[in-house]
Amino acid sequence: MTKLLHFPPDFVWGAATASYQIEGAWDEEGKGESIWDRFSHTPGNVDNGDTGDVAVDHYHRWREDVALMKELGLQAYRFSIAWPRILPEGRGRVNEAGLAFYDRLVDALLEAGITPFATLYHWDLPQALEDAGGWPQRATVDAFLEYTEVVSRRLGDRVPAWITHNEPMVAAFMGYATGQHAPGRRDPHAAVRASHHLLLSHGQAVPILRRNSPGAEVGITLNLIPGFPASPSPADYEAYRHFDGFLNRWYLDPLYGRRYPADMVADYAAEGLLPKGLDFVQPGDLEAIAVPTDFLGINYYMRAVLRSDKIPEAENAPRTIEIDPATRTDRGWEVYPQGLFEMLLRLTADYRPRQIYVTENGASYSIGPDADGQIRDNRRQEYLHRHFVAAHQALQHGVPLAGYFVWSLFDNFEWAKGYKDRFGIIWVDYETQERIPKQSALWYQEVITKNAVAPA
Ligand code: FCB
Repeated sequence: MTKLLHFPPDFVWGAATASYQIEGAWDEEGKGESIWDRFSHTPGNVDNGDTGDVAVDHYHRWREDVALMKELGLQAYRFSIAWPRILPEGRGRVNEAGLAFYDRLVDALLEAGITPFATLYHWDLPQALEDAGGWPQRATVDAFLEYTEVVSRRLGDRVPAWITHNEPMVAAFMGYATGQHAPGRRDPHAAVRASHHLLLSHGQAVPILRRNSPGAEVGITLNLIPGFPASPSPADYEAYRHFDGFLNRWYLDPLYGRRYPADMVADYAAEGLLPKGLDFVQPGDLEAIAVPTDFLGINYYMRAVLRSDKIPEAENAPRTIEIDPATRTDRGWEVYPQGLFEMLLRLTADYRPRQIYVTENGASYSIGPDADGQIRDNRRQEYLHRHFVAAHQALQHGVPLAGYFVWSLFDNFEWAKGYKDRFGIIWVDYETQERIPKQSALWYQEVITKNAVAPA
């Protein structure tokens, strides 16, 4: 028998979702409009005209969903709270029905022995706040703090782990620079300001969470992508440096007390993104952002291979990294488990977070039920298996990895891609809302029971 790779006894195995991607009930029981409601209701923004109006109807099926989680043996569940359910106008009036929904959900999870990990912001900003300027405006930070106060006062006695933000880079740049996500603006200068306000709101929310949820672990989740220059040429290296600064260091450096990376401030200035310099960074902001946290959450999906468009002839450097198209998921993302190992090691060496959680990792494979109703998603199972092995390897190297959340518990509304992309370990029939655990879910159940995986 092959020897299994065992995880530490207190390692946490879970799965993740986000409010707009699963809840539906977009205008029920007093919920306000979010930027994702507005964005998906505007033709042309989401593939196939899909919206999160109904999604997987979790708002009504949460009881059954918690029972499914329990059956699968999940030890933790990462979900997000829809801000406009709590404060329909973003601030001011509190909608009791919204709070009551998460109150019941948290109680049901605890009763099922599942640890709730609550994310405060997974991209569904109240539309009223966007109308007032959104994340590029500093006032949105104050609104976020008000929301944090209301939620943590209500749930702080029972939620033992809080994530302030999910992927501020995506919220800022896909929302405000490329416009591929809500609110769909195309103003790179606004995106840089938004990134600062997202980070600042994290930093200022941490003390509120500590006060209202004593003893809870508090952190933030970043989407981190290890980059690799495609060749040893200086031009490709330069492309790599910029990518790493834009995607990873712009968030990691200030969170760990190093301020914004000087090379990126120079790049943004050269690109015209900072017409008034860093005028939006006020005294005390960087200290607030660098507040100590209990963990860093990382969402890991892929690596990036960087090529400059303009390798000078003289450099004559052959491309040494080519991606094999066969290693791509249905979303087109390269499967590269080694990158998770490398990123975890780098984070530990460069930033020394107290703990790390993989708060998302998973793959889009659209494979559906066979004639016998089984969903044989071996490719997802293999994807997860290889990444779990990489995580285990990182643990062996001293990385303080405390847990792992699979993305996602369900097939769901995959943002601008709509419902075509299926990331779930549980299949959802969108006509009937029937849920069927896929083969990968049953395999995951076994991993959790054994707290171990087979070697790769
Ligand atoms: C991440 C998001 C998550 C999901 C996955 C596939 O960027 O946090 O909501 O869409 O990608």
